Amino acid sequence: MLPRKGAEYTFSRRRFAIIPGMHERQLTPLDRLLASANNALRTVATPAGRGARPNPAEHIIEADLDDRQKAHAAGLMRVNHAGEVCAQALYQGHAAVARDKAIEAQIQRAADEEFDHLAWCEERIHELGEDVSKLSPFWYAGAFAIGAASGMLGDKWSLGFIAETEKQVCAHLDSHLDALPEEDVKSRAIVEQMRDEEEEHGENAIDAGAAELPAPVRQLMQITAKVMTKTAYWV
Ligand SMILES: [Fe+2]
Ligand SMILES: [Fe+2]
Repeated sequence: MLPRKGAEYTFSRRRFAIIPGMHERQLTPLDRLLASANNALRTVATPAGRGARPNPAEHIIEADLDDRQKAHAAGLMRVNHAGEVCAQALYQGHAAVARDKAIEAQIQRAADEEFDHLAWCEERIHELGEDVSKLSPFWYAGAFAIGAASGMLGDKWSLGFIAETEKQVCAHLDSHLDALPEEDVKSRAIVEQMRDEEEEHGENAIDAGAAELPAPVRQLMQITAKVMTKTAYWV
């Protein structure tokens, strides 16, 4: 997939609001370090702020959920929010070490969409009367390290990691669509849009040349994700 016009050298269109004409400038290691630190703070701090795009549940009328339904939906959305914290960190980790500029731009564009997911989940959790995971800094640090480490193996492995992550995330979001209360149409609208976009991120990574990860790595990723999802439901 070709990068959007003018996006090739944009490290982050939202966070750095790239100045016209800046596309000629090469980012220094310090620029990258500051951008990473800025994104980490922005991701783990609450409120995260509004997404660049409207929340898909914005115009949906709140259903009359009982306390048990609300608590369950909040737990599930907290898991999804923690997943988006990890997605931010993974994508930033990959972008920080990406070698190909077009791939870096593609990764950054997906990260921008992931930030919208993060903001929508956070908004929904608060509407349900609860808060995001207290372990967000921990999720971010771990995922950033994994993203950067796999990215250092080269872009095809970095993309392979993204493709596999998004595949597992789609399966996870499908399970949440089954688990969310039928009446909670607001949460469902958010999860449905996220699911569609995660699928697209995965397809884009495959189109860009993702390598298939070895089975033990895929299994390790599943185990790691299970630990995170089980914990973030409660904490
Ligand atoms: Fe996402
Ligand atoms: Fe994604």
